[in-house]
Amino acid sequence: MAHNYDLVILGGGTGGYMTAIRAVQLGLKTAVVEKDALGGTCLHKGCIPTKALLKSANVFQQVKSAAAFGVETTEPTFNLVQAIERKDNVVASLHKGVTHLMKSNQIDVYQGYGRILGPSIFSPIAGTISVEYDDDRENDILIPKNVVIATGSSPAELPALKADHEDILTSDDLVNLTNLPASIVIVGGGVIGIEWASFLQDVGVEVTILEAQDHMLPMFDQEVTKQMKRSLEKKGITVIEQAMIERATKTGSSLQVQYQHKGETHQCTTDKLLMAVGRKANTYKIGLENTDIELDQKGFISVNQNFQTKESHIYAIGDVIGGRQLAHVATYEGKKAVEHIADVAGSTLSDQEIPSCIYSNPEVAMIGLTEQEAKQDGYDYQTEKISLQAIGKAHVNGHTDGFMKIIIDTKTDDILGIHLLGEHVTELIGQASVAKYFDSSALELSEVIYPHPSVSEIFGEAAQAVQGRKNHG
Ligand code: NAI
Repeated sequence: MAHNYDLVILGGGTGGYMTAIRAVQLGLKTAVVEKDALGGTCLHKGCIPTKALLKSANVFQQVKSAAAFGVETTEPTFNLVQAIERKDNVVASLHKGVTHLMKSNQIDVYQGYGRILGPSIFSPIAGTISVEYDDDRENDILIPKNVVIATGSSPAELPALKADHEDILTSDDLVNLTNLPASIVIVGGGVIGIEWASFLQDVGVEVTILEAQDHMLPMFDQEVTKQMKRSLEKKGITVIEQAMIERATKTGSSLQVQYQHKGETHQCTTDKLLMAVGRKANTYKIGLENTDIELDQKGFISVNQNFQTKESHIYAIGDVIGGRQLAHVATYEGKKAVEHIADVAGSTLSDQEIPSCIYSNPEVAMIGLTEQEAKQDGYDYQTEKISLQAIGKAHVNGHTDGFMKIIIDTKTDDILGIHLLGEHVTELIGQASVAKYFDSSALELSEVIYPHPSVSEIFGEAAQAVQGRKNHG
């Protein structure tokens, strides 16, 4: 059956469904086509389930150290099945919420596989969407004025190493783990690698990270990266940088892993291997060949500043266009795309205003430039670092490992970057986002009154320190 829409969104992940809501707010008759479950990677395989599992690991660690707070317990054990069940409940409850939002916003959801058609009897231009179903239902034909492609990404694999989903795993496999392995080698010391390393080590798995580059977390400030490496090693994780995996061979019930490290061949034995080497665009079989849409060298859809593809009525947002593959970036891009469709002026944020977080133990959060970027861009800059040791509430909480680093432009006093490491810093970074949005100077940040005692005082301490008025530390 054929249906007309102002906008059809291909993909009902966080980027897709949030774009749909904004489109309806702007008066566009909107449909979403989703082949699996609304909420996509973020809700079902990424952000939410991994953070739910990390929370379980965090509680486990807290109970282990309860005696230091005067709370006597018996030795705790980690129950993976219960942790997975809790994670599933969190996901199910949020999924119900998203489904309700689609209904209350009168967004039509087509639960099937969407494919873009070329010019046809339905429309003289490419962009009609055919929705195919697993059962014997006839395809639905959606005829939109505009399309947003929000099909997301999937774990990338290495040419020499393919996931078998039993022993050689991707992050999609790990969210539904039924047994904890005794050991795991994680290939890739990026965000996914570090979060899983932290979770698995905290619940008793022996973890080794193999990272190809000189430093793990290459996109983060090097002072953070170095401290993070020390923290992970203190937990017992083995971190091997400049390590290129060559192969993983099954021998009995374990895997024999061979890698190159500083010109030498090394081997190690492990139960499981996780590949966390980036994510590839989901463009397979969505009908791009029926359009003039172009891909970049890495296979991501090319778009202009308004998120339009080569077909100006077809937009693309989120992981499928590459760049910062973060749910909050996809949401922002979707909002911009539909505001462009509806010809409404919205705010324009730069990359410098997008926070990035790692929800490991300890957590990492950043916004703006790293010191290496500030140097590369030729800024005359100043940095200051305040340890959590200087913050009373961090002592109360029993978590004084970590710091805040602020980078400012010496000429203008503008905040170039804020980098945090420690407990709950993924919550604190929101304050830095607000400061960046309002284009605050370090002086303004130092004038704000922060509640005492609170970990947020670290912002005032760092901002005052960079003004030459260091109080503690
Ligand atoms: P990534 O790009 O962050 O890290 C991949 C790492 O693998 C890099 O450090 C790279 O040097 C390394 N690598 C590549 N090939 C290798 C090889 N052959 N041997 C050893 N190391 C190799 O990608 P990741 O961690 O897979 O994450 C994908 C995306 O998902 C990222 O954009 C990330 O920001 C996002 N994400 C964000 C989360 C968050 O906001 N907390 C959580 C999870 C993912």
